[in-house]
Amino acid sequence: MAKRDILIIPDKRLRLKSDPVKTVDKSVRALVDDMFETMYAAPGIGLAAIQIGVAQRVVTMDLAKKDEPPEPLVFINPEVVWSSDEKSIYDEGCLSIPEYYEEVARPKAVKVKFLDLDGKPQEIEADGLLATCLQHEIDHTNGVLFIDHISKLKRDMVMKKFKKAAKRGEYPAFEKDEEPSHHIG
Ligand code: NI
Repeated sequence: MAKRDILIIPDKRLRLKSDPVKTVDKSVRALVDDMFETMYAAPGIGLAAIQIGVAQRVVTMDLAKKDEPPEPLVFINPEVVWSSDEKSIYDEGCLSIPEYYEEVARPKAVKVKFLDLDGKPQEIEADGLLATCLQHEIDHTNGVLFIDHISKLKRDMVMKKFKKAAKRGEYPAFEKDEEPSHHIG
């Protein structure tokens, strides 16, 4: 296992559409191990492979609270097959847009099909934080970021700040927030 660097905007790779995994083999399991190590170290509750520069449709997640035992979840080739009309709002953050948070409205519940680590097809129905996180990470596999769901004015402001800071090899200072449930992934 190895902790990998997380790509930060404006890195263009974050806009790539990831490829589906053809076979869940040893290399995919090694990727998943690295993703968990990177995600837990961040700390974040979700991560998509493209965030460490691997354009494959692989997502890791752990929504357990600090005082609960870990609950690692892996979604390979995840796809939303149903979403509720009812929306819910969550104050989202992203490990690729450090320290910036904004409210995003998404379907409150979703049904997602995916492959598990044995390559077996699975389907789950999710609501609450799991539904939000799944949608956020599936967006990453399609090159979509949570700031694409906020106003253009705010998105342009965020991109400008990150572009300017990137020239100095930094990222902009926002109010720091150590609560991992905000660091959706
Ligand atoms: Ni993210």
